Amino acid sequence: MTKTGLFISFEGIDGAGKSTHIDGLAAAFKAQGRQVTLTREPGGTPLAEKLREMVLHDAMDSLTEALLIFAARRDHLQNVIEPALARGDVVLCDRFTDATFAYQGSGRGFDLYVLEQLESWVQAAPNGLRQPDVTVWFELDPAIAAVRLAGARVPDRFEAQPVTFFQKVSDGYARRAEADAQRFVRLDGAQTREAVWQQLHHNFVQRGWLSALAA
Ligand code: TYD
Repeated sequence: MTKTGLFISFEGIDGAGKSTHIDGLAAAFKAQGRQVTLTREPGGTPLAEKLREMVLHDAMDSLTEALLIFAARRDHLQNVIEPALARGDVVLCDRFTDATFAYQGSGRGFDLYVLEQLESWVQAAPNGLRQPDVTVWFELDPAIAAVRLAGARVPDRFEAQPVTFFQKVSDGYARRAEADAQRFVRLDGAQTREAVWQQLHHNFVQRGWLSALAA
């Protein structure tokens, strides 16, 4: 089993069902003696969590939104993600930059070139651009996700968007996955939770990251 750090992000539209699987993977890695850093974006540090509150609840223009998200990402990378990877932890991150391209870029229609510039500054690393080793993408029809989310809680600025917005977000994820197919693991979120978990677990066993025994 490898002891170098692993950076895994989880993506999908709101309601696609990633949370329970992130918790399941954290438990599975810990059961094998790995140190796990469980974190999320926007957020993951005291400063980035403050920025998250603003991004999710305060009205702002698209450039401000993108700048705050990348500012939060910079703080998170420097203070949590990079140190954890240097220690050899498994970093499980609920959303990362693909979400910015999907939500701000594709969903809001914000300039992808500006996002690429911000990505290259914020994620600059000694050997290139810091990206997750693997991105698990829970793909789900936005109409099904909307039914799942209905009445679940008070919606934030993104959850309150119409299905048409999430269709664009979903298309944005598809484009990112196409552009970097090696990094993405696509799971069909319309399956039962158990079936999604089995597929995810099996994928990580095949990579040599989890043992086949405890599913
Ligand atoms: P989410 O990850 O769904 O957390 P929770 O389950 O607690 O609601 O919420 C984060 C929201 O932020 C989600 O609607 C997507 C949005 N978001 C962006 O718009 N851009 C980004 O770059 C990131 C990381 C998230």
